[in-house]
Amino acid sequence: MIGGFIFMVKDKVIIITGAASGIGKETALKLTEGGAKLVLSDINEDALKTVLKDVEKLGGDAVIKKTDVAKKEEIQELIDFAVEKFNTLHGMFNNAGIGAMTPFLELGEEEYNQMVQINQNSVFYGMQYAGKKMIELGIKNGVIVNTASIYGFVGAAGSSHYNMAKAAVVSLTKSGAQALTPQGIRVVGVAPGFTKTAILEAAPDEMLEALKDAHMRGHLLEADEIAYVVRFLFSDESRAINGSTVLCDDGFLAFK
Ligand code: NAI
Repeated sequence: MIGGFIFMVKDKVIIITGAASGIGKETALKLTEGGAKLVLSDINEDALKTVLKDVEKLGGDAVIKKTDVAKKEEIQELIDFAVEKFNTLHGMFNNAGIGAMTPFLELGEEEYNQMVQINQNSVFYGMQYAGKKMIELGIKNGVIVNTASIYGFVGAAGSSHYNMAKAAVVSLTKSGAQALTPQGIRVVGVAPGFTKTAILEAAPDEMLEALKDAHMRGHLLEADEIAYVVRFLFSDESRAINGSTVLCDDGFLAFK
């Protein structure tokens, strides 16, 4: 098929966390276009229902499950639910996350622990539980994608706990790949630059304006630009990528 698009995610069953908004939502749409079957999860059930309608408008096959990724038992329930619905599981997108804007010296224990719980521990449990389930099912071309960040590679005084959690995601992606690849499961990460989603709503306009110039094209990224890369990472065409985190940052880190 010269010049055509080969949908290598066709009929793959993939779970997305944080699917109600931003990068998770756009990835749901792109994976649907690629023919994947989806289990959409988020803590925000109302927004999840809207995304489901959008997926169905494209002719997609998806179900939703309200999940708080801060609770590891809910991650397990989500994975069991996916297999109950579709009888199999090929992919897990550990993507749900929260942002942070608290100076280092003012960061309190509660906020610190919440960050670790949502942005870091959820990725570990998502990988471990989905990995175990795919092994149990005998899946030989499984893929786990974790959402890290450019901030996983640098520090920032105003979001130290966020950067720490994202650095942990980069590290867990490497260890997870080593642990799961012998069983047929690839583990990769995606590290977006600043992307126009709800997570940036708390950031002051002047800050966002200044951040545009930190990206080579002079503007913030769009969520679908990250989603295209995630779809590629779930496809067999990206099988040479394993254990690494792919920067989708329009050069942000290249000229830091
Ligand atoms: P978003 O705010 O649009 O989407 C995040 C989603 O996660 C929301 O739907 C939210 O309800 C959900 N969520 C939050 N806490 C949850 C919990 N405890 N359980 C289940 N779901 C929960 O933001 P965006 O940008 O789409 O974020 C997706 C991922 O991308 C996050 O991990 C974020 O850290 C990461 N990221 C975003 C960047 C950006 O500039 N937008 C840059 C780098 C990384």
